[in-house]
Amino acid sequence: MAEEKKLSGPDFAQGVALTEFADGGMLQGHANGEAILVARRGDTWFAIGASCTHYGGPLAEGLIAGETVRCPWHHACFSLRTGEALRAPALDPVSSWKVETSGGKLFVREKQPEKNRPAVSAKAPENVIIVGGGAAGNAAAEMLRRDGYSGGVTMISADDATPYDRPNLSKDFLAGTANEEWIPLRSMDFYREHQIELLLNTRVAAIDPRKKSVQLADGSNRKFDALLLATGAEPVKLKTPGADSPQVCYLRSMSDCRAIIGRVAKARRVVLVGASFIAMEVAASLIHRKLQVHVVAPEAVPMERVLGPQVGEHLRRLHERNGVVFHLQQSVVAIDERRVVLKDGSAIEADLVVIGIGVRPLIDLAAQAGIKTDKGVLVNEYLETSIPQIYAAGDIARWPDPLTGDHIRVEHWVMAERQGQTAARNILGCRERFDAVPFFWTTQYDFTLNYVGHAETWDQLDLDGSIEDHDCKLSFRRGGKTLAVATIGRDRESLESELAMERAVQAA
Ligand SMILES: Cc1cc2nc3c(=O)[nH]c(=O)nc-3n(C[C@H](O)[C@H](O)[C@H](O)COP(=O)(O)OP(=O)(O)OC[C@H]3O[C@@H](n4cnc5c(N)ncnc54)[C@H](O)[C@@H]3O)c2cc1C
Ligand code: FES
Repeated sequence: MAEEKKLSGPDFAQGVALTEFADGGMLQGHANGEAILVARRGDTWFAIGASCTHYGGPLAEGLIAGETVRCPWHHACFSLRTGEALRAPALDPVSSWKVETSGGKLFVREKQPEKNRPAVSAKAPENVIIVGGGAAGNAAAEMLRRDGYSGGVTMISADDATPYDRPNLSKDFLAGTANEEWIPLRSMDFYREHQIELLLNTRVAAIDPRKKSVQLADGSNRKFDALLLATGAEPVKLKTPGADSPQVCYLRSMSDCRAIIGRVAKARRVVLVGASFIAMEVAASLIHRKLQVHVVAPEAVPMERVLGPQVGEHLRRLHERNGVVFHLQQSVVAIDERRVVLKDGSAIEADLVVIGIGVRPLIDLAAQAGIKTDKGVLVNEYLETSIPQIYAAGDIARWPDPLTGDHIRVEHWVMAERQGQTAARNILGCRERFDAVPFFWTTQYDFTLNYVGHAETWDQLDLDGSIEDHDCKLSFRRGGKTLAVATIGRDRESLESELAMERAVQAA
């Protein structure tokens, strides 16, 4: 989360010798009380805000690529020239300053006014409806306006809250270490000011592609010229007897999270069913809240399928050191008011049960409208579905991954936002390919892992460094090709891996 930072480094207002700046390098300093990053590309110097507008990541520890800088924490990308947030998860620009050189020194002068992008609405439709008020839907609505679109934008969300920082629900917010005001992505005023009509608590029940309209759950209809589907996913439900008991919770929405926090106050022991990323993050957060945490999961090693056995084993030990008790190679056969009964007949006392056994993409709306689906909504490289003027983004979208040629679907926050942004630009006629390299992160206690690429299977897993010391890089390869790279404590290498994969795509 963003926090007040002490100013460090040289005072750029007083001037700094040009010899301090290596070509392609960056230097953090300050001017007039603000932290500033100065970057040099050849004979051009840029000065922009030093902290990422997502969670305040230190941009000076990131990576320069062309005239952009990438944040080391979750890979947001900013223009060095204007400060614009070119890629999610940052949605706001950083400031940008005028730079002058004289007498062998560099001086940072006044702040530059924020530049609006040129409007790209020549071929734009008259009105756009976005179904879903999550990562993809919100990023799309914002991008339509950022690109100067002046037509109607309506975002319809079944959720009762304005779009919020969903990843935080299993991390700081659940642990009780994040203020509630950090969680919404924007205020209601923001949507009003940007003339984005936001319908909350409103479910789209059907789409009529022929009439170009959506039907809301109350029976009313809304017309669209272009439609973006961004309905996300819902937790897979546990089907064992007692799974509908009141102490059984799922975690997808803000209200789910509030329900868990409400129960935590009276709970002593929690059983987590599943060892998914979300379940393991919930375990760490509830340990922070001093609960006794048990995890029941069928696998022998948590998260082995995605991260490999070494990281999986490390995470198991890490959780155990923090007090989590694992019941692996086990499943739940029944839940009653006080206990969770396992396959081997044993039982665990529980006054709260949280199920984290995966999610199911919400594709029924698309399928019923005749849009092609295949364990996801099928889209092309422009994020268009099989029906013209209907796009899909986020957890529901299955798109052609340019690195492998496979059609993939991921459940990653940053990808959902980036897809929303690209879909918005394509709605406006930009014909921009979605070729971003998948990226996700997880945080559990002091362990943070960044993952770029996508490897459903691999035949070689190379470890460089030490997992135990939280200083390593793991490369997941198939047929000699690097499909994904996970790093722990090596944020810059994660950025370099992402850039290398992007270049491989561009060269192909
Ligand atoms: C607790 C938690 C922690 C996570 N942590 C991470 C993380 O650390 N890193 C990471 O990369 N990813 C993380 N994720 C995954 C990430 O949040 C998702 O990939 C991302 O939110 C997907 O965005 P989306 O826009 O596709 O869907 P969502 O953000 O789920 O938004 C979908 C929206 O559609 C609405 N909707 C659904 N159906 C309808 C309908 N019929 N009519 C109207 N509205 C509808 C929903 O109400 C919701 O507003 C986490 C997810 C959860 C739940
Ligand atoms: S803090 Fe920069 S991308 Fe998250």
